[in-house]
Amino acid sequence: MKVSKRIFNLETETAFTVLAKANKLKLEGKDIINLGIGQPDFPTPLNIVEAGIKALKDGHHGYTPSNGIIELREAVSKEIYRAYKENISPENILITPGGKPVIFFATLIFGDSDKEIIYPDPGFPIYRSMIKYSGAKPVPMNLKEENNFEIDIDELSRLINDNTSLIIINNPNNPTGSFMNEQKIIDLVNLLEKYSHVTILSDEIYSNIIFDKNTMPSLLKFESIRNRLIVLEGWSKTFCMTGWRLGWSFWPNKLIDIANKLCVNDHSCPTSISQYAGIEALEGPKDEIHKIKNEFEKRRNFVHEELNKLPNINCFKPGGAFYAFPNVSKSNLTGKEYADIALEKHGVAIVPGTSFGDDAKEFIRISYANSIENIEKAIKRLSNI
Ligand SMILES: Cc1ncc(COP(=O)(O)O)c(C=O)c1O
Repeated sequence: MKVSKRIFNLETETAFTVLAKANKLKLEGKDIINLGIGQPDFPTPLNIVEAGIKALKDGHHGYTPSNGIIELREAVSKEIYRAYKENISPENILITPGGKPVIFFATLIFGDSDKEIIYPDPGFPIYRSMIKYSGAKPVPMNLKEENNFEIDIDELSRLINDNTSLIIINNPNNPTGSFMNEQKIIDLVNLLEKYSHVTILSDEIYSNIIFDKNTMPSLLKFESIRNRLIVLEGWSKTFCMTGWRLGWSFWPNKLIDIANKLCVNDHSCPTSISQYAGIEALEGPKDEIHKIKNEFEKRRNFVHEELNKLPNINCFKPGGAFYAFPNVSKSNLTGKEYADIALEKHGVAIVPGTSFGDDAKEFIRISYANSIENIEKAIKRLSNI
C-alpha cells in the first residue's frame, strides 16, 4: 500500500495523548486530576440541550444547506452586531462542524510549495500541522514570556515577505491564556494594513472568555482589512458545546464560495440538530454563560496566585481562555519531564509546552477547566515536584 507523501506531514494534538494516558491510569484505579483537557467542565446549558431535542422531535433530520441554515447565519450576524456593532451579512457566514475545519480550509486555500504561512508559537498545534500538510512553509511567530506571550509587532514585520500568503492570529491564545487588548490589536492592524497581499486568519474561539472587564477587540471591527480577513469562531468554548461540533466563521466575498465548496466536498453540511441548538445559544438567555465566565475568572485568579507560591514555578497572569502556561525551569526539569512526573507519580494530568511549539521546552499548560477543589488538590500535589 502506498499512501501519499504529504500525509506524513500531518501532526496531531498531543493533548489528546495525555488525555488517553490519564484515562488509562484512571481505569486502572488511580486517582487522577485532569488539568490537561481543553474543554469547559460545565454541561451545555439546559435551554440549548432542549432546543436540540426539539429539533429532533420537529423532524430536522435531513441535510441542510452546506453553509448552514439561514436562521442560524442570521442569528450569527445579529450576535456580531450585538458584540461589535458591525454589520456583517449572513452571506459571509459559514457554519461548520466545529471551528477546526476553518483552519483546514484556510491553509488548503492559501498553502502551496512556494508559499509561507506565519503562525503563533506556542500555538494550537493544528496550525503547524495543517500548514505542513498544505505544502506551505510554516513560519513560527514566537510569543515570548517576557512579552506576556503577546505578538511582537516588529518581529512579525520581519517575518512577512512576498511569499507570505496567510498569517494566523489567535486571541485569546491557546495554550498561554494571553490576551491582547484593543491598543495592541490596533498596532497589529496598522502593520497588517501595509501588506495587502497577505490574508489573515483570526482564531477568536475564546472571544467570550476574557477577564478583568476587558472586551474582545475582534479583527472584525477593522474594515480596512476585512476584504482579506477570515475569522474562526464557534460555540465549543463559549457555550460548552465541544461535542456538538458547531462553529461559525466569517469569510470575505472573494473566498466565501471557495470555502463553501470545500464544505460540500468535505462534510456536506453541519449537523442539523446542532444548528437549531446553536440558534437558542445565541438568542436565548445568557445568564448561565456569564456565570461560567465569572467562574473561570475566579479560577484564573486562584491558579495564578497558588502556582506562583510554588518555589519551582513562575506563572504569568493569563487574560483569557482557561489556560495557564507556567515556566517550570526552576525545577531543573523540562516541561515534558515535569508533566510526566506530575501524571505518573502525582496523578495530575497536564500538557507539556512542547505540544504547542518546539521552543516551549520550559513550560507546561494547565487547563483550569476543573473545579477549584480539584485545582487546589492538584497544585498541592505539584508542590512535591
Ligand atoms: C485555539 C483553538 N482554535 C480552534 C479550536 C477548535 O475548536 P472546535 O472544537 O470548535 O473545532 C480550538 C479547540 O481546542 C482551539 O483551542
